Amino acid sequence: MKILVTGGTGFIGSHTVVELINAGHEVVIVDNLVNSNKDVIGKIKRITKVRPLFYKVDVENKKALAKVFNEHKFDAVIHFAGLKAVGESVQKPLLYYRNNLDSTLTLLELMVEYDVKNILFSSSATVYGTPEVMPIKEEDPLGHTTNPYATTKLFIEQILQDFVSANPGFKAVSLRYFNPIGAHPSKLLGESPSDIPNNLMPYISKVANGKLEYLSVHGDNYDTVDGTGVRDYVHVVDLAHGHLLALKAFSFDKAYNYYNLGTGKGTSVLELIHAYEKANKIKIPYVIGPRRDGDIATSYADIEKAHIELGFSPQYTIKEACRHAFLYEKKQK
Ligand code: NAD
Ligand code: UFG
Repeated sequence: MKILVTGGTGFIGSHTVVELINAGHEVVIVDNLVNSNKDVIGKIKRITKVRPLFYKVDVENKKALAKVFNEHKFDAVIHFAGLKAVGESVQKPLLYYRNNLDSTLTLLELMVEYDVKNILFSSSATVYGTPEVMPIKEEDPLGHTTNPYATTKLFIEQILQDFVSANPGFKAVSLRYFNPIGAHPSKLLGESPSDIPNNLMPYISKVANGKLEYLSVHGDNYDTVDGTGVRDYVHVVDLAHGHLLALKAFSFDKAYNYYNLGTGKGTSVLELIHAYEKANKIKIPYVIGPRRDGDIATSYADIEKAHIELGFSPQYTIKEACRHAFLYEKKQK
């Protein structure tokens, strides 16, 4: 297939591009580089021996994006482009609604104009709000999102449903990611925020490499195995592979499909710290701090639907993810 990947120089996008190229797909990337770097393209080439075409384009910019659609006949779009910092979305809700919604609307309009019928969308476990029952199943209630970022994901899922019902022949698939971690085993691709990381794994990796002094564990009085928050950490390469598998949903009868992508297993903050220490034979200094606003105690996926319908079955262990994340961060300045 010839696939347009928006946000393809980002963390999950770049790993997915590698999987797509390795499976023989032709990839064109658009990204405005607001949260990534163009040198990712050269790294993808080092891994796959293929340099994907890259356009520095803001997906909100219809004229610029139309030029890309004009030059290529795409079979599908994978839409990663978006802003993703939960805390920042609370401070700057309009920025998040503008960027994430506008870019999606522009993309969908062009898909109609250029008759590109298939879209895979990066959704998130946050669309389930504060889930009551674990593991979380796709049919569990959505909504009551706790921040504007999550609400953009919920709105976009609804937009996609409305879009495919109004446009016969069009197909949309939402992939609800749980917590992606790790890095490419080549150490060429990964996640290393230039600011203080919001997420646990990149924070641990900065501490492990001496770039931050210690980790603060956000609360140890939750109703969980050891009192710390429990999440479903999935290796980014497994997640990327999930996108390759999800392309088959375009041939399913239903116009709109949605899947959880996680591992089905919960890991606490302390368990992750200890796994990281063991994998890399180092100590992670940490203190127990207060709870973080908006956090839930536990979140892990039921991945049966993705397993049965798509053949999704994550392969990497938490230990491997910890090793890859450490080695990737070690290579960063
Ligand atoms: P990322 O920030 O590394 O990648 C997103 C990419 O989109 C970046 O390269 C950024 O430059 C680009 N981008 C943002 N707005 C754009 C615009 N208007 N036009 C063009 N490019 C734009 O993030 P990621 O972790 O790779 O996440 C990819 C997608 O998955 C995002 O939509 C994110 O919300 C979603 N997601 C991520 C997580 C996570 O924990 N990482 C979890 C659930 C969902
Ligand atoms: N945590 C700490 N200390 C830190 C950072 C995090 O203890 O410095 C804890 C959190 O309290 C939570 C767990 O580690 O219990 C995981 O936190 P993350 O910030 O890594 O991940 P979240 O589950 O809060 O959210 C992430 C992404 C969202 C995404 C969601 C579900 O940030 O964008 O997973 O996919 F939507």
